[in-house]
Amino acid sequence: MKNLGEIVLRKLSKEEYLSLHELRNSEPYLKYDHPERPLASKAEEETFWEKYVISGAYLFWGIYTAKDIELVGVINAFSFSKDAQTCETGINIFPPQNFGKGHGLQAYLQLHEILLKELGIKYTYIMTSPENKPALKLYGKLGYFDGGQVDDEGFTWQVMKYKFGLD
Ligand SMILES: CC(C)(COP(=O)(O)OP(=O)(O)OC[C@H]1O[C@@H](n2cnc3c(N)ncnc32)[C@H](O)[C@@H]1OP(=O)(O)O)[C@@H](O)C(=O)NCCC(=O)NCCS
Repeated sequence: MKNLGEIVLRKLSKEEYLSLHELRNSEPYLKYDHPERPLASKAEEETFWEKYVISGAYLFWGIYTAKDIELVGVINAFSFSKDAQTCETGINIFPPQNFGKGHGLQAYLQLHEILLKELGIKYTYIMTSPENKPALKLYGKLGYFDGGQVDDEGFTWQVMKYKFGLD
């Protein structure tokens, strides 16, 4: 049965991000990624955090259960366009036993509110493997449309786009 319990988003700390290092680099999360993407060490991830998260280039939120504030995922926004109207996003629900409980859908509904109302984003998009059926179904359900495919050094990414508002 689906867990319909509420989830909340709140800014992720560096310590929480680093604590997910091994899990994030495990098979269920890597299997839809570019196979030749070099894995970052924990030290490199710390440098990444200092350089890109502190500067605001990447925004990370933890996905927590509202009931007991358990960290069940991470959702992020990055690649902001110069006019700040467009960005890319991504999500991981942790651990894999928590897949399929509705956390991903709920987290995205809340992220959309933040993107629209706090950040003034007009378009957003995701990129994943065309084989990532769970993710493609999730984004389809959220109202994303097919944004085509892009080739990246022998790897094909499926783009899914979302437009806020009617204009
Ligand atoms: C993709 C992912 C974020 C989905 O999050 P989730 O919390 O498991 O998804 P939800 O329970 O909110 O499901 C929402 C919808 O997605 C689809 N979905 C989720 N898991 C699915 C699965 N295993 N197979 C098919 N569809 C699936 C369904 O349409 C579902 O709605 P429904 O159950 O009412 O039909 C999660 O599986 C994950 O972290 N995967 C690994 C990382 C990843 O692929 N991230 C996305 C990269 S852009």
